[in-house]
Amino acid sequence: MKLIELKNVSLIYNKKDVVLNNISFSINEGEIISIIGENGSGKSTLGKLITKLIEPTKGELFFKNKSYSISNEEIRKNFGMIFQNPDNQFIGNTVEDDVAFGLENRCINPKDMPKIIDEKLNLVDMINYKKYQPNLLSGGQKQRVAIASNIALNLSLLIFDEATSMLDPKGELEVSNIIEKLKKADNKMTLIIITHNMEEVLLTNRVLVLKDQKISYDGKPDDLFKNEELLKTLNINPPFKYELVTKLKKAGFAVDFNDSLKSIKDKIWQ
Ligand SMILES: Nc1ncnc2c1ncn2[C@@H]1O[C@H](COP(=O)(O)OP(=O)(O)OP(=O)(O)O)[C@@H](O)[C@H]1O
Ligand SMILES: [Mg+2]
Repeated sequence: MKLIELKNVSLIYNKKDVVLNNISFSINEGEIISIIGENGSGKSTLGKLITKLIEPTKGELFFKNKSYSISNEEIRKNFGMIFQNPDNQFIGNTVEDDVAFGLENRCINPKDMPKIIDEKLNLVDMINYKKYQPNLLSGGQKQRVAIASNIALNLSLLIFDEATSMLDPKGELEVSNIIEKLKKADNKMTLIIITHNMEEVLLTNRVLVLKDQKISYDGKPDDLFKNEELLKTLNINPPFKYELVTKLKKAGFAVDFNDSLKSIKDKIWQ
């Protein structure tokens, strides 16, 4: 079932700066997609278009086959976004207040709130920090609370807009682990991961590459990362393992993209 569809969407800023030019694609319910592209290629703009923070200059967007615009509050309630800066996303005075705030906004019965709050904080491994103030948390912990606050709202679509780019490697890993957990959850939340980190692309089943105001690639990350010529054309550096295997293959080693790093190491020693 189609969740989102874009039909001939263009976005032009200031009547002259074309960011997206006549883009069409759809996203099915439950898909896990990444969006990559150089700085300024329009990734965040695309995220804002889908969540209807902005309207397209041309074209139309559909949610479950129904055309929607900024004024469709009921449809927009299905969307959430996690942003880059962990410090700009806290609303509550404590971790549990932060999750509660969104629930209050959605007029959830106060009696049901403690259970929802505990469940979501458990999912992001932040239950032990329930009473903590935001300024006592690390960046990765703050992002995890932001994720809990979003998923508590029963969203159909959650967009991560470079949610790990300001985190240290530990925080990055913490957020990646939560994304892995969300992928396995029963409720089919659709995830879009906008990123510069190619390892994060490997968490997804489909990657869109934005280049020259278009979607220049739409397919499996694995097929993209194995294709040296395509990577060159799109100006993308693949994840470490793909780069390594490509180089070793050229040097005559019998390695394969499916090998683990350990078996690659063993093959080199042989
Ligand atoms: N509100 C705005 N008004 C005018 N121009 C804008 C606006 N927002 C973004 N732009 C421009 O549109 C282009 C695309 O910006 P966008 O933020 O979508 O890129 P991005 O791919 O998310 O980049 P980054 O990787 O740096 O986050 C850029 O050239 C940017 O300067
Ligand atoms: Mg951006």
